[in-house]
Amino acid sequence: MGFIMQLIAAGIGEYQKKKAQRLKEEAQKKRETTRVEHWITPKVETYQEVGEWLSAPHLLIAGATGSGKSVLIKLLIHDIIAQAPFDAQMILIDPKRVELVQYKDLPHVKDYASEPDEIISSIDYAIDIMEWRYKRMQAAGQRETKDGHLYVIIDEYADLMLTNRKQTESKILRLAQLGRAAHVHLIVATQRTTADIINGAIKVNIDHRFALHCPTARDSRNIIEQKGAETLPMYGQAIYYSPRGLKMYNIPMVEDAEMDRLIDWWSRQDGTDHNEITANWSEDDNETTASWAD
Ligand SMILES: Nc1ncnc2c1ncn2[C@@H]1O[C@H](COP(=O)(O)OP(=O)(O)O)[C@@H](O)[C@H]1O
Ligand SMILES: [Mg+2]
Repeated sequence: MGFIMQLIAAGIGEYQKKKAQRLKEEAQKKRETTRVEHWITPKVETYQEVGEWLSAPHLLIAGATGSGKSVLIKLLIHDIIAQAPFDAQMILIDPKRVELVQYKDLPHVKDYASEPDEIISSIDYAIDIMEWRYKRMQAAGQRETKDGHLYVIIDEYADLMLTNRKQTESKILRLAQLGRAAHVHLIVATQRTTADIINGAIKVNIDHRFALHCPTARDSRNIIEQKGAETLPMYGQAIYYSPRGLKMYNIPMVEDAEMDRLIDWWSRQDGTDHNEITANWSEDDNETTASWAD
């Protein structure tokens, strides 16, 4: 009888597993078919390039204090949060404690860090996510993840290097080297443009770079391999260096009111999009852990 009971139990277990799988597939299909991209804000003409920038593997933003690095970061964040439903997520690292804190409760934000300890664990978290994704890709035989884009945004990178270089630099480089296929993007802003901060290792891995106004031609050369950024106005313009060449851009500043409106819009959502995606993430993550544990 024990044997029969076992058979029945196994059958039920199998049935439940199949049912769970079927429900999951149905939910997935439903999500794909009902997923209508919808812009919370009209896409302004000047923002057209922003999507392109966001599809670069990584971005470096360098320029003097007051040259508009944080303004440019906010423009990028604006584009990330202007679209619903979302699948892009962010990890925000804000050593200055004031620039990115207003975004910390957005459903897109997986983690916000400003204190040194928090920053170190945020970067570890980004590495973990990247590694989970690699494991899943390997298991599925994929060369590129199907997961959404994760932007690891670091404002004031030089501050971080001055205070916590030992604990963070090699990890950040690892994200830069391996992030692409896992859709993990670094966006790194720095006011110090000297070779001790923007060094060869960073440059090899971040080949899409913005030079905003900077003090000398030497700074400019260190960012974009050319002089020129020293002649830019104090803020509002950038030279964009990418494998496709150099290009000059006017950088629009997103008005506070527009940002507030978006942040407010997200705070009033019932969280459906977010929960669905979060549920998926943790479900998938557990799956990975489970399948790699055995
Ligand atoms: N693209 C821009 N358009 C208009 N004003 C800008 C622009 N970029 C910067 N500014 C002005 O300069 C100030 C400093 O910019 P910010 O991004 O904080 O500089 P950084 O982060 O490089 O120190 C902003 O508060 C804003 O007044
Ligand atoms: Mg700044």
